[in-house]
Amino acid sequence: MKFSKRIKHITPSATIGVSNRAKQMVRNGIDVINLSIGEPDFKTPTVITDEAIEAIRTGKTSFYTPASGLDDLKQAAADRTNIDYGTNYSSDQISITCGAKTALYALMQVLVDPGDEVLMPKPSWVSYQEQVILAGGKPVMVETNDHFKISPETLDCVVNAHSKLLVINTPQNPTGTIYSSNELEDIGNWAVNHGIVIISDDIYGKLIYNNNRFYSPIQLGGRIAQSTILVNGVSKAYSMTGWRIGYIAGSTELISQVNSVLSHMTGNPATVSQYAAITALQSDQADVENMRQSFEDRLNTVYPLVNEIPGFEVAEKPQGAFYLFPKVIDAMRLVGVTSSEQLVACLLNEAHVAVVDGSAFGMPGYLRISYATSLNDLKIGITRIKAFMDQYLEKELSGGISSEAD
Ligand SMILES: Cc1ncc(COP(=O)(O)O)c(C=O)c1O
Repeated sequence: MKFSKRIKHITPSATIGVSNRAKQMVRNGIDVINLSIGEPDFKTPTVITDEAIEAIRTGKTSFYTPASGLDDLKQAAADRTNIDYGTNYSSDQISITCGAKTALYALMQVLVDPGDEVLMPKPSWVSYQEQVILAGGKPVMVETNDHFKISPETLDCVVNAHSKLLVINTPQNPTGTIYSSNELEDIGNWAVNHGIVIISDDIYGKLIYNNNRFYSPIQLGGRIAQSTILVNGVSKAYSMTGWRIGYIAGSTELISQVNSVLSHMTGNPATVSQYAAITALQSDQADVENMRQSFEDRLNTVYPLVNEIPGFEVAEKPQGAFYLFPKVIDAMRLVGVTSSEQLVACLLNEAHVAVVDGSAFGMPGYLRISYATSLNDLKIGITRIKAFMDQYLEKELSGGISSEAD
């Protein structure tokens, strides 16, 4: 079979890949702790599932909806956004998609022409690059500072006549970094001055910890807000990854183009999921706060533990999302491997802990640990990694002592 040229340039999702390997090991009877996947471990709150069951019972879920989603869900997404951000979206400025992933994919199809460049921070979530390539564009990773943040200065280094879009993801996967409103304003003004459209992927926007404050470019008003397209969804904040509901908020002109793509690409997201999402977005958000609090406790517990692992360094405590992104150059040296990919393989095969290689996010020499799992599993996983690294540290220390004795 002759495959398209396009597909030859695509790498399957590394996060899904490592998680599948870990699940296969578990099926083979190996006790693996999976810290690789970005998926909350909580069951979807019952207020949401009850509504979905009721929608099935009444027969409402048997039918197609508009490709862009149920009117009531578009209204609920507009209302939620307006309450959370102080904005003023109407329901015809919203498209409902099969998760934020499809929202981003559809946007790349609508906005990117062959040769167009899409700027994104280094490191970034694994799918941005591949989605840009699938649209015929060129992903361009923008260098970040010690806090994993881009700035007008680093953007200046890559901008050219082909630059079309800039993806901002705050809190950022895989680092948990959030941008201050001043930083976003600087970046937003830079984008406006260069005629570059911003896609703000706010999927982790409700998962902010330790009194840090979250801002989105859509809150900055004026030309920055006008140049920004919001991508959001219910997967992470409402523990609804399997339901596959995301949404886009933008101008009516953009939304009508997105809806055309969706009408040929996905049709509507599952009707039952849409009814569930209406309840999620309209509920009193108490469940979101409870889950957020649990993630905060986990972060506060595991952050110091990860920094105690020999060769692991998380210089700055993450402020949001549910990931730690330690630098592991020293760990690689201790273990005697030359890449973080090899270190990840050693941790899976020998310590039986699954994590993701930083290369998948554009940053070799790092790895991503997800803390979207129980505190118990987190402690076991980190203890295993520490025990694994301790043996190499001891070897080095004893080697160091004996060579001194020599
Ligand atoms: C930064 C980022 N954006 C978007 C998504 C996609 O989320 P969804 O489950 O809504 O498709 C993810 C999922 O991991 C993510 O990490």
